[in-house]
Amino acid sequence: MEKNAKIYVAGHRGMVGSAIYRKLIKEGYTNLLTRASSELDLRNQQAVTDFFEAEKPEYVFLAAAKVGGIVANNTYRADFLFENLSIQNNVIHQSYKTGVKKLMFLGSSCIYPKLAPQPLKEEYLLTGLLEETNEPYAIAKISGIKMCDAYRAQYNCNFISVMPTNLYGYNDNYHPQNSHVLPALIRRFHEAKENGLAEVSIWGSGSPLREFLFADDLAEACYFLMQNFNEGGFLNIGTGHDLSIKDLALLVKKIVGFEGALTFDSSKPDGTPRKLMDVSKLHDLGWKHQIELEEGIQLAYQDFLSKQQENSPL
Ligand SMILES: NC(=O)c1ccc[n+]([C@@H]2O[C@H](COP(=O)([O-])OP(=O)(O)OC[C@H]3O[C@@H](n4cnc5c(N)ncnc54)[C@H](OP(=O)(O)O)[C@@H]3O)[C@@H](O)[C@H]2O)c1
Repeated sequence: MEKNAKIYVAGHRGMVGSAIYRKLIKEGYTNLLTRASSELDLRNQQAVTDFFEAEKPEYVFLAAAKVGGIVANNTYRADFLFENLSIQNNVIHQSYKTGVKKLMFLGSSCIYPKLAPQPLKEEYLLTGLLEETNEPYAIAKISGIKMCDAYRAQYNCNFISVMPTNLYGYNDNYHPQNSHVLPALIRRFHEAKENGLAEVSIWGSGSPLREFLFADDLAEACYFLMQNFNEGGFLNIGTGHDLSIKDLALLVKKIVGFEGALTFDSSKPDGTPRKLMDVSKLHDLGWKHQIELEEGIQLAYQDFLSKQQENSPL
């Protein structure tokens, strides 16, 4: 990518898109194209067609999506399927129509079968049934991978896909019901500390194992792969390490400084028992994460506190 190339970062206000945007600015890119969803609704086929015809971006990072935790995924099943399919269909198809040189589609580790062997290797895609709670979201993301592959096969488009593990970082979503586990823990422990509560209840049993990557590390990987990966299929992006939700909760509790007790609410769903990415292909290409979990949670907590001070929506 030339430093003056026109690069569209779809979803630039989100956690992932904003990290990619910051990385491109840091690398000296000068011609970045962005639109908030209020200016360009990517579900709207005609609006997306008009935008691509007018702007003709050369490169696209597709980081716009409807995203949420287990409960949101399970509750808004139709919205997660319809909105994600619409966004990615419109952006991928118009990227082909207007001759985009390279596009990166961002999916997620929920594309893998619920009971796939661990760690998850790229070749396990479509080898078993999906986790029921986020099946609509996963089906949309699998369609995105297959769409990039189909445009590569039929039209020779250089469209690549990457599947990040669970992410956290600056600009995360701290909504009390719709957020992912790590930001939800930060908020709960912080509020418990502020309100002098004796205990915090954690969703689920605490036993599922999960992997977490700081979003700025993901942006580094996306930038690296935009220069160094030009194949069909997809690549996992993660750290290659996991921990139990209980151990994660203890780490967040320590960083936030909450001194009360932990309890577990087993009436809330656990989701997949373990989700760890096999990142050997990524490591073989020459990329490895830099920010370890404790440092990353400290940075995320500082971001949470500064947003609170500014009274920004969390
Ligand atoms: N968060 C994670 O743990 C995680 C893990 C793995 C993969 N990913 C993937 O990374 C990507 C981005 O996730 P994220 O965590 O950054 O999500 P996010 O913070 O919720 O950001 C999503 C972005 O998508 C945009 N968007 C949503 N609907 C749109 C629409 N109809 N039209 C235009 N823009 C729309 C939003 O734009 P506005 O702000 O302008 O409304 C927002 O900036 C997704 O593909 C997700 O699957 C995320």
